[in-house]
Amino acid sequence: MENVIEAEDLTITYNGKVAVKNLTFKLKEGETLLLLGPNGAGKTTLLKVIAGIHSEYTGKITVLGKSPRESRGYVAYVPQTITLNSEIPLTVLEVVTMGGLYKEGIVHFNVPSEIVKKSLEVLGFLGIKNLANKPFRELSGGQKQRVIIARALMSDPKILLLDEPISALDPKAKATVTSTLSKIKEELNLTMIITTHDVNPLIEIGDKVMLINKKLVAFGSPEEVLRDEVISTIYGPSSKTVKVGERVYCIIGDVHLGGGKI
Ligand SMILES: Nc1ncnc2c1ncn2[C@@H]1O[C@H](COP(=O)(O)OP(=O)(O)OP(=O)(O)O)[C@@H](O)[C@H]1O
Ligand SMILES: [Mg+2]
Repeated sequence: MENVIEAEDLTITYNGKVAVKNLTFKLKEGETLLLLGPNGAGKTTLLKVIAGIHSEYTGKITVLGKSPRESRGYVAYVPQTITLNSEIPLTVLEVVTMGGLYKEGIVHFNVPSEIVKKSLEVLGFLGIKNLANKPFRELSGGQKQRVIIARALMSDPKILLLDEPISALDPKAKATVTSTLSKIKEELNLTMIITTHDVNPLIEIGDKVMLINKKLVAFGSPEEVLRDEVISTIYGPSSKTVKVGERVYCIIGDVHLGGGKI
């Protein structure tokens, strides 16, 4: 398996001020990385560099063997806060077709029928074709997140970056979005990076876990990273891991309440 993302001693800055430093890691094709860290740790910053939208860094980062900017067309980025003007009553289908139009780089006044067809296929793949004609703004948080993921898939990405896709959701919606991500992993074999404050719902789809706090704290398999002595360095002495069957779960005191709303 080929490495699709390689970072070596990557230090990312904003106007010369270090946000996150000394990141070294590799991610192989088809792997899913769960990216953890407290508020301000640098999670969103790292995703923006991989997506090719923030380029102030030193060290090395390659995405599909090229600079992140050169690979932009193969990377879909679902931001932490999704800003869709709720004054404009877009339907779900319109929101998803927008993903196909960006790829073509031109403004269409009439959406080509093949893009509409593909949008319906992607919605069908994610099991939400029934929402196609509903106004986006009237959907639940979990439904909105799945529509936004559908929009991201319209550009046929090789890498999918999701910034806190389950943060603002209730447990039931977390489970539906997680099963959507699981289906994408199984059937599309995309390489994914998912940032989260709550690793537990996603643990089953994580091949690798990275813990950052303005620098790399730990990177490896879930078993290697999710250990009491590792997570307690960041989340405090009361944070613990528990093993249930083959899986490791975290009990972390730090609950993230802001952000992630769509
Ligand atoms: N546009 C920006 N300009 C200057 N500094 C920034 C900018 N965006 C982020 N930072 C700084 O970079 C650091 C990392 O922020 P980042 O948003 O990546 O953290 P995060 O791990 O995603 O946090 P959260 O869990 O709150 O989303 C913080 O110190 C933040 O203040
Ligand atoms: Mg963030």
